[in-house]
Amino acid sequence: NTVPAESSPEEYADDVLISALPIKLAPGTQLKLRCYHGFWLPERFVPSAVALQRRFVPRPDDVIIASLPKCGTTWLNALAFATMARRSYPPTGADHPLVRLNPHECVPFLDALFSGGGARAASLDALPSPRLIYTHMPHAMLPRASAGVGCRVVYICREPKDTAVSLWQFRRSAHPELPVSDTFDSICDGDNTYGPFWDHVLGYWRASAACPESVLFLRYEELLRDPAENVRRLARFVGVPFSEAEEEAGVVRGIVDLCSLGSLRNLEVNRTGLMDGLGFPRKALFRKGVAGDWANHMTPEMARRMDDVVADKFRGTGLNF
Ligand code: A3P
Repeated sequence: NTVPAESSPEEYADDVLISALPIKLAPGTQLKLRCYHGFWLPERFVPSAVALQRRFVPRPDDVIIASLPKCGTTWLNALAFATMARRSYPPTGADHPLVRLNPHECVPFLDALFSGGGARAASLDALPSPRLIYTHMPHAMLPRASAGVGCRVVYICREPKDTAVSLWQFRRSAHPELPVSDTFDSICDGDNTYGPFWDHVLGYWRASAACPESVLFLRYEELLRDPAENVRRLARFVGVPFSEAEEEAGVVRGIVDLCSLGSLRNLEVNRTGLMDGLGFPRKALFRKGVAGDWANHMTPEMARRMDDVVADKFRGTGLNF
């Protein structure tokens, strides 16, 4: 075998390794998943997991948003961006980047930046500190150095049945006939995108318990219940707490309002067009945004099965849903 001209020997060796990994299609889609170190990653992001370990050099003041898809990533990206950029961009400003850009266009996606040999990863080096980035990678796939250098990770998790329904609804935007059962079964079986979900969640849960100053563990339902208090927590965690003057001026409220589902979903940029490089409609990121929607789409048997999986996998971990 010869190394193709466009690949380095290292990349070629990775390709050979990746092509030998177990493969599946995500239910009802053409998305190929490969099982890499126990996690079903989108095939094109397996090289990212390898490259991240080799090439990503975290800075002490980096903030990494981490999540499973459909757990509130877009919302948390928007809140973190608005919080960290508030000195340059007051949340009520008409020219705020979140008014012109989708939240994911304000926060670079680590998994995509390191795909395809990591050529685009150089753009990360050019970003000024503190950098805000997001990933769906499991905790074990972040470079070990990210814990050592003081870089901070904010993880968001969500009730698994609601996550499942959200993922199914999202996939239906491209595959309207997709039955809920296919997505549901793959989530319970642990071979959903970036799954098994329990190992993904527990990786960050345990990291947060071991190192609470490095990993903040948030829950989507808590954000819904009290967004302002969670924005304050987030700001303290990333080292930019709100001053009394900011509190009095209503900056927290401004951030919560700017990033609310009602506000983001109505913006032209989020109602139209496709996500760059990911290819799905931007509006598919903003649906209902509530807790408990699973009850409208799952049978009691499905709910019971998933609750049993959750009870089994999270028993004794201190985390429950
Ligand atoms: P639903 O499908 O249940 O409505 P992600 O961003 O990780 O893909 O998660 C998408 C889920 O977050 C969707 O849930 C979506 O509606 C919800 N969401 C997106 N923006 C939100 C916001 N600003 N506030 C609350 N929920 C939001």
